[in-house]
Amino acid sequence: MKRNLILLLLGLPLCCLAQIDLSGDWKFKTGDDLAWSRAEFSDSDWKTIRPSNIWESQGYENYDGYAWYRIHFKLPASLKDNAYLKDSIRVLLGRIDDVDEVYLNGEKIGQTGHFPTEKGGYITAWDAPRRYVIPGNHPALRWNTENTISVRVYDGGGGGGMFEQAERSISFVDLIDYIKLDASQSPYDFSPKWSIKKKIFLENKYPKAIDGELITEVFTHKNKIKPDWKAQVNITVKASENLPCPITFSSQERARVRFTFKEKNTGRTRTVEQETPYILTPPEGSMPQINNPDAFGARPGVPFQFTIAVSGKQPMQYTIKGLPRGLKLEQQTGVISGMVNTRGMYSVTITATNNVGSRSKIVNFVIGDNICLTPPLGWNSWNCWGLSVSDAKVRSSAESMIKSGLARHGWNYMNIDDGWEAAERDAKTGEIKTNDKFPDMKGLADYLHRMGLKIGIYSSPGARTCGNFLGTWQHEQQDAQTWAGWGIDYLKYDWCSYDLIAPDKSLPELKKPYEVMRAALNATNRDIVYSMCQYGMGDVWEWGEEVGGNLWRTTGDINDTWESLRDIGFIQHKSSAFSRPGHWNDPDMLTVGWVGWGDHLHQTRLTPSEQYTHISLWAMLSAPMLIGCDLSRIDDFTYNLLANDEVLAIDQDALGKQATQALKKDDYQIWVKELADGGRAIGIFNLSDEDRKIDVNWSELGLKDYKKVRDVWRQKDIGKFGKTFSTEVYAHGVTLVKLY
Ligand code: GLA
Repeated sequence: MKRNLILLLLGLPLCCLAQIDLSGDWKFKTGDDLAWSRAEFSDSDWKTIRPSNIWESQGYENYDGYAWYRIHFKLPASLKDNAYLKDSIRVLLGRIDDVDEVYLNGEKIGQTGHFPTEKGGYITAWDAPRRYVIPGNHPALRWNTENTISVRVYDGGGGGGMFEQAERSISFVDLIDYIKLDASQSPYDFSPKWSIKKKIFLENKYPKAIDGELITEVFTHKNKIKPDWKAQVNITVKASENLPCPITFSSQERARVRFTFKEKNTGRTRTVEQETPYILTPPEGSMPQINNPDAFGARPGVPFQFTIAVSGKQPMQYTIKGLPRGLKLEQQTGVISGMVNTRGMYSVTITATNNVGSRSKIVNFVIGDNICLTPPLGWNSWNCWGLSVSDAKVRSSAESMIKSGLARHGWNYMNIDDGWEAAERDAKTGEIKTNDKFPDMKGLADYLHRMGLKIGIYSSPGARTCGNFLGTWQHEQQDAQTWAGWGIDYLKYDWCSYDLIAPDKSLPELKKPYEVMRAALNATNRDIVYSMCQYGMGDVWEWGEEVGGNLWRTTGDINDTWESLRDIGFIQHKSSAFSRPGHWNDPDMLTVGWVGWGDHLHQTRLTPSEQYTHISLWAMLSAPMLIGCDLSRIDDFTYNLLANDEVLAIDQDALGKQATQALKKDDYQIWVKELADGGRAIGIFNLSDEDRKIDVNWSELGLKDYKKVRDVWRQKDIGKFGKTFSTEVYAHGVTLVKLY
């Protein structure tokens, strides 16, 4: 709900507004004309647009280049009267993909990023929050009458324009704006059980102390209006202080907590509301449990590497039966490597033994043309480190992948995204080189391989990558050979500036660069998983397999918000039919844990329930799962999300059938996935903002013969349900069950 509407509902007169809301519809036009900055310009024939979503999702599909947004609003002088500090005015505009400049009544008041026409050329700033500050007496301000903000935007490729459900407003910078209330720096600590400890931080960036009240309210499932628990304390935050405020409360179930700081002089508040994390995955057992999927594909005559993934009490001993000629097992790491020359299916029995017991599993090594028989599981640098990825960061992430225990659950690929490339190719040979952040790519690959991990790399078929690094254009064969020489196992090939080479985006144009690289990869002596990244253009799922992709992105980039997760995850039914072993739809990488697309990481903005939805839905979609967070900061909750073997088994199911959307209601959806053992996985997703009970009628989903229900996250059989099943699902959360 809009903020000024809330104030009106409370019966407050307009005179007391503390800010003007700019989050409603804006006027919009593609193209570029500086006359559109002027207040007098009439935009009455322009279309309207929501600032919370990129323009591609609002009727401007595939549009890159310039466009303008405009909004009109009245600026009551009372805004100034009510402010305690009157020095400056702040305009918040959420985020804008990629570059923007902002005009207030025709006068430029700020810019973020660089337009292509500027000295130094185009620099994207798609991820930067737009916050513009002007003096409180700026001559462009028109008090008590209409004002216009015009925003000139340039989109350099991919998604474009304003996006994100963020605060968009204009207000005086007041005392409360110098206070940062941060509830994301410390985890919820659950010991002893359900006695919850949490530290929040109040930071004061004003040169004088700020007084106020810190209010904590805890709401449980049954009680959403009146808090079950409330505490209020008076607080003074000194100048430049970042004050830790420890809070302890108890709750017998998952709860919502609201932290509010109320500034004394103005009564204005800062509020953060959070859902407390809740752990569903049972603790790991001590018996060995082999977590590799049932099938693994490799080509004949090229290096082979497979790592046995076993959870349970360490150390572990392995024995193998039925290994094809040319392969050997390394006891220390559980890595099977070598080379198989003869095509065929080899049923290999792996036995893992520790001092508690022994377990075996048959894995089929399928030596032929198809690799990537189950969706890749691993890590990618982009959603955490963005362009600041480095050798050191990849190494420490790999160490955490092993140390945390995640590798034992099947996570294997360590993929370097954009940002590893040198500015120039080798002057003599034309070979692509790494930049200073990656002193020895081959050394890094060897290091990861020795740990039983695999290594991925990134490039673009265009001359430049999306991050404006060097691309592969006209060096396809050469780059593929270079990567193979380094020991690369996975390539993400990202369209980006190929727009300049194929501006029409006809189907043959869309296919061509991917075919060229496929041929180049085929000519190498390595199994390189081929990940096509072109944001779903031309319904890529219909021809991704034909051009030899092992996976292809079906949408634009994901971020760590519910809107992004929902808008990407729940439209994947369109591509369901095209996913099968060796060829997967890719709805983009995971956004759980500490993410940030650069050096400043933050805890994911997804609520715990949304994170369960994320992992459950991706598993249902047979999606490649690439963890996008700093692995050295995995807490118990995030680990619980990523190390649930029954959930991962749904993703890694050897049948390779993607879930279909069996039921779609306004505020909930049910997805059904067929499994190799004849069972069905069912995801019951609550898309509404409220916790709710969902009744499921099996026959409505076309299911008759299944009766036994297993709660997948809790790894527990929950009984027989002949015709109907009823479940409580948290807001934006999921109940994931298996029927058999
Ligand atoms: C595009 C891709 C992202 C990431 C960046 C790197 O935006 O979709 O996943 O690879 O480029 O610049």
